[in-house]
Amino acid sequence: MYDNWEDLEKSIVGCRKCKLCQNRKNIVFGTGNKQADVLFIGEGPGADEDSQGIPFVGKAGKLMDKAFQGIGIPREEVYIANIVKCRPPSNRVPEADEAQACLDYLRNQVILVKPKIIVLLGSTALKNILGKDYGITNSRGKWIEFRGISYMPTWHPAALLRDETKKIEFWKDLKEVKRRMDVL
Ligand code: URA
Ligand code: SF4
Repeated sequence: MYDNWEDLEKSIVGCRKCKLCQNRKNIVFGTGNKQADVLFIGEGPGADEDSQGIPFVGKAGKLMDKAFQGIGIPREEVYIANIVKCRPPSNRVPEADEAQACLDYLRNQVILVKPKIIVLLGSTALKNILGKDYGITNSRGKWIEFRGISYMPTWHPAALLRDETKKIEFWKDLKEVKRRMDVL
């Protein structure tokens, strides 16, 4: 664990701790306010993120930006990262060994950001952070308090592209996050 961003960022350069290193163009470390109250965790980079090295800049990211704008969450005010920092082939779900290899970086990011709220975007984020016993369908929209951090699981924005009905719940969950941000 590193106690500063510079050392942590240096430590990931050229990372080959898991097989996702083989096809990546860029490591997608994370972006946003390094002192954010709210940290968003996705699954892993897609093609656009892999090309640009920035999380949530593709279709799903644009949808999330729209929700941010509508609800009044400035993207630059929050921090955004992923469970794995290199793109899984064909955007498949990260395998257990890949997530395990990469989680040290994310844990270190959480320690440095010190967020009060963590938004878990989808099942991969939920299960890797809070445990396999959690399911996104039952957990979404409900606060989970754990070790001084409030967790809000919600749909992954890519799920909204497949099922429009999930948009309403996603917005509802982000509005609840915004409500709590405003009283911090
Ligand atoms: N999906 C994710 O989980 N993360 C990204 O950065 C982009 C799409
Ligand atoms: Fe390293 Fe994470 Fe990329 Fe795997 S996904 S190579 S652990 S940075």
